[in-house]
Amino acid sequence: MCGIVGYIGDEEATPVLINALKKLEYRGYDSAGIAVLGDEGLVVRKAKGALKFLEQKIAAEIIRGTMGIGHTRWATHGEPSDQNSHPHTNVSGQIAVVHNGIIENHAKLKAWLTERGVAFRSETDTEVIAHLIDFYYSGNLLDAVREALTRLEGSYALGVICQTNTDEIIAVRKDSPLVIGAGEGENIIASDVPALLEYTRNVYYLDDREIAVLKRGSVEFYDEEGRPVQKELCRVEWDVAAAEKGGYEHFMLKEIHEQPTALTDTLRARIKTYATKSINLEEIGFNESWAKADRVIITACGTAWHAGIVGKYAFEHFARIPVDVDIASEFRYRDPIFNPGDIFIIISQSGETADTLAAMRMAKKSGARIIAITNVVGSTLAREADLVMYTWAGPEIAVASTKAFTTQLMCVYLIALKFGALRGCISETELAYYIDALEELPAQAERILSHKEDIQRFAAGNFNKTKAFFMGRLFDYAISLESALKLKEISYTHSEAFAAGELKHGPIALVDESTLVVAICTQRALFEKMESNIKEVKARGASIIVITYDDEHFFDAVADEVFRIPCTPDPLTPILSVIPCQLYAYYCAVQRGNDPDKPRNLAKSVTVE
Ligand code: F6R
Repeated sequence: MCGIVGYIGDEEATPVLINALKKLEYRGYDSAGIAVLGDEGLVVRKAKGALKFLEQKIAAEIIRGTMGIGHTRWATHGEPSDQNSHPHTNVSGQIAVVHNGIIENHAKLKAWLTERGVAFRSETDTEVIAHLIDFYYSGNLLDAVREALTRLEGSYALGVICQTNTDEIIAVRKDSPLVIGAGEGENIIASDVPALLEYTRNVYYLDDREIAVLKRGSVEFYDEEGRPVQKELCRVEWDVAAAEKGGYEHFMLKEIHEQPTALTDTLRARIKTYATKSINLEEIGFNESWAKADRVIITACGTAWHAGIVGKYAFEHFARIPVDVDIASEFRYRDPIFNPGDIFIIISQSGETADTLAAMRMAKKSGARIIAITNVVGSTLAREADLVMYTWAGPEIAVASTKAFTTQLMCVYLIALKFGALRGCISETELAYYIDALEELPAQAERILSHKEDIQRFAAGNFNKTKAFFMGRLFDYAISLESALKLKEISYTHSEAFAAGELKHGPIALVDESTLVVAICTQRALFEKMESNIKEVKARGASIIVITYDDEHFFDAVADEVFRIPCTPDPLTPILSVIPCQLYAYYCAVQRGNDPDKPRNLAKSVTVE
């Protein structure tokens, strides 16, 4: 996720900005840049790659000045490159902007600005902001920023400076974090507290749509109408290590909590809300010919493969199209049958998994068309696929995938629903109904997270169980697979997943008093079947947790514990039902004394076979 910093005071700004950016490195980034305002005007330096490359550029040509802004970029629009790095400037180079977030209507704004003679220099969504501020600027930077904000849709945290306003940094946020550090004769902005702690522990937390005007000796706050706002100064007591994790004990827990935002970011730009709601994939190059495919083949590894299984059920349900799901390491060594008219969906958080890339290249060689779902802009998968749909989850640092998985699911639903609508399998009204339900998921995920203590308590009582089995049917089976993987990889508990109907065909032989069975029960038409399966394992002494809907009491009599999730249409529950399982795995790992961020024997990106 991008990191923003800004400094105004009496010190040289460059070392402060670089130092503060280093404190944000844990967020992940692919390029960096700074803009400093001094006697030589506004000077910008940017470099692709690690901060050391930016430092080398600065060392070669020192820039002086006592105010500036800086940025570490995690690419969303346009590959990592010097050109796409922030800060971005207006045409004259007098206004510089750093941005964290996604400007959803950037294409429309770019067209509007281009018509007015603006020549763009990058592929980013951010550059439109610099040109828009310029368009409205006539001496008052705050007013120009306020005007520009009225045109922006999406999420943003911004730092803005202008060559003719030598005692002013403007900072603003909407749906992206930003904190203001208040020092003695100096003030500083940052995406996150660790960047500030060396300078001050006195901070203001900006709320959505609030604007801060930082001068050397003061900070003032305004609402979007330009009316002054009073803010409370807070004292940060965390140490740096805790601050990097946003106050959470581990990155994994932080990333679990980032899911509502990641889901919103992944969804929002893809929904059109003109007369009726529809899904906009045209911007990634999707057209009707894709939906005419005779077969979809989804290929991935691990957690991403589980997203593929949800994808199979979703495509078959919404778009009535046959789908095969393959583990990439199996696919590449089989003798798979390719048919003309097949399309492949390749899912990979990193976009660099060796087996997944090999499967993708085989499919490409066969002449098939490829849609990639990935979290990393400019990754090998993104570069080699025909179409790329990004999960805007931001960098995932914990080895066990959480927010990347739920955002992969969001992408899979969007594509399946789009196919369904184009193939005439779902009506406009049904599509609007499912889009409404997708839009509710982030807030519903937030509600689950607000009850995490229930799961923590349950994990405290069960973490030392030697066997955990997850079972479900249809979409719940896919989430059982993902939940069992999560638990085994970080808690090292022997956990397995079963399609509940398969129990009697063998696995039930394993069940005894030492077994925990998590039954995921969200497919309403199959409640009776699930009840029978639960009774079968209960009769053999297993302890039972049921995950079901808020308003559902069907399983109360057979479960030892019920975790409730908000109601949503059955096919969409995976995005919600996996969250209690992620939390359960996390708390079991912590109870067992494991580091959930760095599980033994595992790597984040498996770039070798
Ligand atoms: C599990 C996990 C792995 C990855 C798998 C594929 O929590 O993260 O199973 O899902 O290694 O990685 P990507 O998605 O990067 O291709």
